[in-house]
Amino acid sequence: MEGGAIAVPWYRGISFKVSAVIVALVVATVAVVGWIFLTSLHRYTEGVLKSRGRYIATTLAQQAVEPILYEDRVALLKLIESFQPEAGELSAEAAIVAYAEIRDRDGRPLVEAGRTATPPAVAISVGPGVMVADHGGLVFEVAAPVVVKGVAIGQVRVGVSRALARGRLRSLAGQIALLLALAASLAATATVLLSRRFIRPLVQMIRGARRIGEGGWGTQIGVHTHDETGELAATFNEMSVRLQQAFEEIHRTQTQLIQSERLSILGSFAAHLAHELKNPLTSIKLSMQAMGEVGFDGCLDPEERELILNDVAHMDEVITSFLAYGRRRPVVSVAVEVVPLLEEIGRRLGARGRQAGVAVELDLTPDLGRLHLDPERLSEALENVVTNAIQVTPPGGVVAVEARRLEDGGLRLAVADRGPGIAAEARVHLFEPFFTTRHGGTGLGLAIAQQGVADHGGQIEVESVVGEGTVVTITLPGGRTASGSEAAGYDGALSGQR
Ligand SMILES: Nc1ncnc2c1ncn2[C@@H]1O[C@H](COP(=O)(O)OP(=O)(O)OP(=O)(O)O)[C@@H](O)[C@H]1O
Ligand SMILES: [Mg+2]
Repeated sequence: MEGGAIAVPWYRGISFKVSAVIVALVVATVAVVGWIFLTSLHRYTEGVLKSRGRYIATTLAQQAVEPILYEDRVALLKLIESFQPEAGELSAEAAIVAYAEIRDRDGRPLVEAGRTATPPAVAISVGPGVMVADHGGLVFEVAAPVVVKGVAIGQVRVGVSRALARGRLRSLAGQIALLLALAASLAATATVLLSRRFIRPLVQMIRGARRIGEGGWGTQIGVHTHDETGELAATFNEMSVRLQQAFEEIHRTQTQLIQSERLSILGSFAAHLAHELKNPLTSIKLSMQAMGEVGFDGCLDPEERELILNDVAHMDEVITSFLAYGRRRPVVSVAVEVVPLLEEIGRRLGARGRQAGVAVELDLTPDLGRLHLDPERLSEALENVVTNAIQVTPPGGVVAVEARRLEDGGLRLAVADRGPGIAAEARVHLFEPFFTTRHGGTGLGLAIAQQGVADHGGQIEVESVVGEGTVVTITLPGGRTASGSEAAGYDGALSGQR
């Protein structure tokens, strides 16, 4: 599923929705603006046409006075024909005049040119004596009287054509429609590209969330923009890291709890068993010693007696460590000077090492200060770890014990040996009680050490390379544990920090 496609149909995706909204907005805006523009232009053109028509009709009427008085039809015809369009005619008046005619005072036509349609019946007055008859068709008619000294001697009628204006309006509307289509496709392309750019981080986040859901704690998203998506991605990454930390913490605590529970059951069992065996074993030991002292011989030779006594001594040793393990008391922390404590432990371990021909070298720094801990339980833990190291080091070898103060005020102890190392299969069982590969070992040393360190709120870790050696690290925290129980911690009064 990792990096899989996002299962949202395209028509439900944000990209499509955003594009649809923006395209609709752009189309609506262009359409409304275009419509307003065309309507205003239409109204303006109508006004211009009407006033041009009136001007043409009144001009014709003035020029027709004389030819009417002299009944000069030829001059009248020339006059109206001069307003008719000819091929290549560019005059605005000529272009809009559909027809023109001049009538006498009784309304009888004297001359006419270009008339194709019957003039409309209803006319309204648009000035002194000037009428306009309009049906909204391609042509409307303007009529003006021919007046001499206040007396009407005839009438001029001019058909004004809207064809030119309408043609221009139509071609403008076509251009606007083209603009509309262009704007819509541009808006669609731009929004699809833009929204994809904005959605990409979202898709990455969905994939990241899926990976986390599948157990990929700590998954990070590579979105580094300086906007809200970048912020969201940074928050996501932070959340992912916190989840990972929380998961690891839960896992560690759970392991510790299981181990602690197991140890506690085993501990009481071991203590009970050891307690029951201790007295009979002491009786056997005393009897064997007594047998030797009274010179009881014949049934047991001294060598066999010595062998039995040795075995009894080993059993006693095992039982004593079982008892020690089973009766461990809880940690009681006190403020302790770390350097003198480690030096004292070092002296004891040095003596143990010397017996095996191994040097125990202590490397301490003077800044170790004071720490809240249980000296007995810490010594027990450290001694078990160092004893293991001495046991695997050949005579003439060295076991190095290093103590360092941590930045958080805690303490790190590292015990390094150049022994045979620990195989990976054995490493997972190291802290289990009774796990041992050593002849005569009880397998309790590291279990006791881990319990002691955990009771201080610390951790014990093992790094080992087969054939090269092992480093066991004990880390004690610098403060108190969150539960409020006393864990290891430096004394603020002396060290200046907690
Ligand atoms: N420094 C080390 N190098 C190699 N193996 C080690 C080291 N420390 C521990 N081990 C392995 O871990 C096992 C368990 O150690 P642990 O101290 O718990 O028990 P033990 O030493 O066998 O017995 P005891 O109870 O007497 O300590 C050992 O038997 C040994 O196999
Ligand atoms: Mg041991």
